[in-house]
Amino acid sequence: MATRTLTGITPSGTLHVGNYFGAMRPAIAAQELGECYYFIADYHSLTSVFDSEVRRQNAMGIALDWLACGLDPAKSVFWRQSDVPEVCELTWLLGTLTPMGLLERAHSFKDKTAKGIAPNFGLFAYPVLMAADILLYDTTVVPVGKDQKQHLEMTRDIAVKFNQTYGETFVIPEPSISEDVAVIPGLDGQKMSKSYGNILEIFGEEKKLRKKVMSIVMDSRTREEPKPDVDQLPAVKLLKFFAPADAYEAILQQLEAGGYGYGDLKKALFEHYWEFFREARERRAELSKNLDHVQSVLTEGAVRAREVAHVVIDRARRNCGIV
Ligand code: TRP
Repeated sequence: MATRTLTGITPSGTLHVGNYFGAMRPAIAAQELGECYYFIADYHSLTSVFDSEVRRQNAMGIALDWLACGLDPAKSVFWRQSDVPEVCELTWLLGTLTPMGLLERAHSFKDKTAKGIAPNFGLFAYPVLMAADILLYDTTVVPVGKDQKQHLEMTRDIAVKFNQTYGETFVIPEPSISEDVAVIPGLDGQKMSKSYGNILEIFGEEKKLRKKVMSIVMDSRTREEPKPDVDQLPAVKLLKFFAPADAYEAILQQLEAGGYGYGDLKKALFEHYWEFFREARERRAELSKNLDHVQSVLTEGAVRAREVAHVVIDRARRNCGIV
């Protein structure tokens, strides 16, 4: 069977550089290698966002972000989850075979309740919806980070159980755990993460972002001092992601030699970062002037997604005897 890679994109507001290198860039590169199914997980957002306008805006915003960064609807199937509501029906079918104990053991659920979030049924059932997302499209591969690994194992367990109970129905998906996932340092040197408040956004206002970069805290060495051990500084690590190799090496040499200060470094970092996303930024600006076009991209994507979904949901219905 051909490889079919699927992933759900949580529409959670502002994307940052860590999201780009960790998830977006590999997903965009995968478009050249096989079939890709990418969707905006707006049903999932219902478990934690309770403002309809925010949900709509987030969904549109994330569509713009991904299209601007290189998601190509001619190569990938790209749709909004809720445009294929059969996924909810499948969630029910799968839910009836999902042991309570399995869901009770889910890390993400336990983490959220431990934080004092009052869980609703949706949050508890989240892994079943995620299993339906994956199984509805005969997915063969799901790229997963550490946080989603357990969810994929649950998907596999549920699919196996359904197949054993009702006969061969679902393709059992494999996880794809990328070994060389880059850890992107945040502005304070910890892993870049929204919850640490150390992010550098992909898109945003130039002045604000420049200020953010210029305010990265460094050590107290003066401009003149030679700085031979700088490659572990977050600003330098970040620079490496954005600058061409020769420009990066040149800056490193200047830092080592002395006479090149942290202000100079941060200016260079900003310029390379800003240049790195220039094309994407311009594309995003164009797309946001034409939201009807973005909407029609998603609508067409949903038509293609539904073609597959119908085959699979019909198979599932037939096998479990509800038609
Ligand atoms: N749960 C995923 C996350 O939080 C998003 C997601 C929803 C997903 N459905 C999926 C990922 C199916 C992969 C496959 O990031």
